Amino acid sequence: MDQSAKRVFVGITGASGAVYGIALVRALLRAGTEVVLCVSESGAKVLRLEMDFELDYRAPDPDALFPGHGGRVIAFPPDRVEAPVSSGSYRTDAAAICPCSMGTLSGVAHGASGNLIERVADVMLKEGRPLVLVPREAPYSLVHLRNMTLAAEAGAAVVPASPGFYHRPKTIEDLVGHVVQKVTDRLGVRLELVDRWGGGG
Ligand SMILES: Cc1cc2nc3c(=O)[nH]c(=O)nc-3n(C[C@H](O)[C@H](O)[C@H](O)COP(=O)(O)O)c2cc1C
Repeated sequence: MDQSAKRVFVGITGASGAVYGIALVRALLRAGTEVVLCVSESGAKVLRLEMDFELDYRAPDPDALFPGHGGRVIAFPPDRVEAPVSSGSYRTDAAAICPCSMGTLSGVAHGASGNLIERVADVMLKEGRPLVLVPREAPYSLVHLRNMTLAAEAGAAVVPASPGFYHRPKTIEDLVGHVVQKVTDRLGVRLELVDRWGGGG
């Protein structure tokens, strides 16, 4: 059995698909994982536009987003680059940026560390710890594809927000769960959110 990650950083950026980020945090909490959360300014905008979630990205309140988290979610604004999670000496077992905008993908691929989300990604890569990027754009330009290649070459797992259909999804939750399960698998967190392929015929 995989080693379960104990503390996972989740960055939610301004790509469409905020629901993936929220579902990921909920799934991690269900697995008993501690979550360090950071939502970018655009991420907060998309949360409001897509899910009616009101979040002040400068003072994120985990109680409002994840009631009942029991102190297992701590949140930082994106400019808090001095947060503990910004250092490789702090034990963050893995990180995911979900969804990951093309802007943040670029920052990660080029080591910009321009905010806390990009910095944590940089730390994961330099420390050789799991980093999962969940990009969402359509179509991808050559710039996007090259940045994904750079990130993958540096050690990131690129898990696109592209759900499969072989588990016969019936609800949006089933589709979201398929992507989230791919992410938790790469984070090293064992969860069974949707049926896995057991062979056809
Ligand atoms: C409703 C909405 C949907 C968006 N969808 C995407 C998207 O799917 N992919 C993407 O790369 N950017 C998307 N954007 C644009 C990003 O939010 C924008 O580039 C932003 O600067 C990214 O900043 P961040 O990476 O700090 O969150 C969207 C913006 C809005 C308002």
